[in-house]
Amino acid sequence: MEGSAPLTLDSLRARASACMACALGSTRTSVVFGEGSPRASLMMIGEGPGEVEDTTGRPFVGPAGQKLDEVMGSVGLRREDAYITNVVKCRPPGNRVPARGEMEACFPYLEAQIALIQPALIVALGNTPTQWLLPDAPGITQSHGKFYAWRGGILVLPMFHPSYLLRYPSKEKGSPKHLTWLDIQKVKAWLDERAAGAAGA
Ligand code: URA
Repeated sequence: MEGSAPLTLDSLRARASACMACALGSTRTSVVFGEGSPRASLMMIGEGPGEVEDTTGRPFVGPAGQKLDEVMGSVGLRREDAYITNVVKCRPPGNRVPARGEMEACFPYLEAQIALIQPALIVALGNTPTQWLLPDAPGITQSHGKFYAWRGGILVLPMFHPSYLLRYPSKEKGSPKHLTWLDIQKVKAWLDERAAGAAGA
């Protein structure tokens, strides 16, 4: 992102709110920039806003968002503990997967958000953010729950997208839901360990 004044999340949000860098700009109701703690060590990145997000301007507040809250809540994490955003900030019509050109056009915002927040761990929700950040990683069925390094530094852990859990509600051993519960426990344990390390340092 270029510009003379130092970039902040607020100035980036203001810039995004007028963005017409791709065709999604002409069909959106709101730009869904992201929300949460600007100093979070955990960042959650989804695919793109759905209908409720487009209406409210907030990420993950529709049915998938309620599921995400439940997943995070199962290990005592609150939304406010993380910074939550998406690969694309405007809703793809009909909730289709964002096109490559749309993700490319939007990437400077995500890149700048990551640079400003400097999370220690990114959870990539579903295949779209996983493949976008980690093009060499296998699909979500294999990559979920594993730690990858992004650009040699920040860790990325893919998890199933909450919408997928809504579609497959079984909690049986080995089900997406069961695996996600294990994955979020891994995330919490990693964050706790890191916090304990920082406190002891
Ligand atoms: N699905 C996403 O990927 N992101 C949202 O913000 C909502 C639903």
